[in-house]
Amino acid sequence: MIASLLYASTAAEGLDSADVFKIVEDSSRRNPARDVTGFLIFDGSQFLQYVEGPQEALDGLLDVLNHDRRHHSVRVLHRAESEQRLFPRWAMRRAGATAEQELDTIRTARLPVGMMAEIDRFGTRRRAA
Ligand SMILES: Cc1cc2nc3c(=O)[nH]c(=O)nc-3n(C[C@H](O)[C@H](O)[C@H](O)COP(=O)(O)O)c2cc1C
Repeated sequence: MIASLLYASTAAEGLDSADVFKIVEDSSRRNPARDVTGFLIFDGSQFLQYVEGPQEALDGLLDVLNHDRRHHSVRVLHRAESEQRLFPRWAMRRAGATAEQELDTIRTARLPVGMMAEIDRFGTRRRAA
């Protein structure tokens, strides 16, 4: 079984687009060794990240994430399990304002309903901001 996790967090003060670029680049390099795939959305102040992989890999990553000073207040919004990965080709992809095509791909993937609702809610806030 593949476990998946959606969380939101608050970016550290002063974090900019270049920092986010580096987070995504480093993550996509590291995640194959973790056996994790997923995507990251950043609205200028909040992160929304979806990760999928073996349960132990997600727990390990969550522990690392909780200690990363580039963000804080990590809130797990949703956990699920599936037979297979939904984003096998995304070691880590940025989605959102700078990557709208990725958002389209996310919309057509069969994410659990609760997760998609959270992503839509996040997108609505993003547009309203
Ligand atoms: C919003 C955000 C998302 C991140 N996503 C990942 C990720 O998907 N995979 C990963 O390996 N590290 C990710 N990181 C970085 C980790 O927190 C950590 O810095 C990195 O794994 C290196 O940890 P280590 O040096 O202790 O191995 C993310 C950091 C932030 C702030």
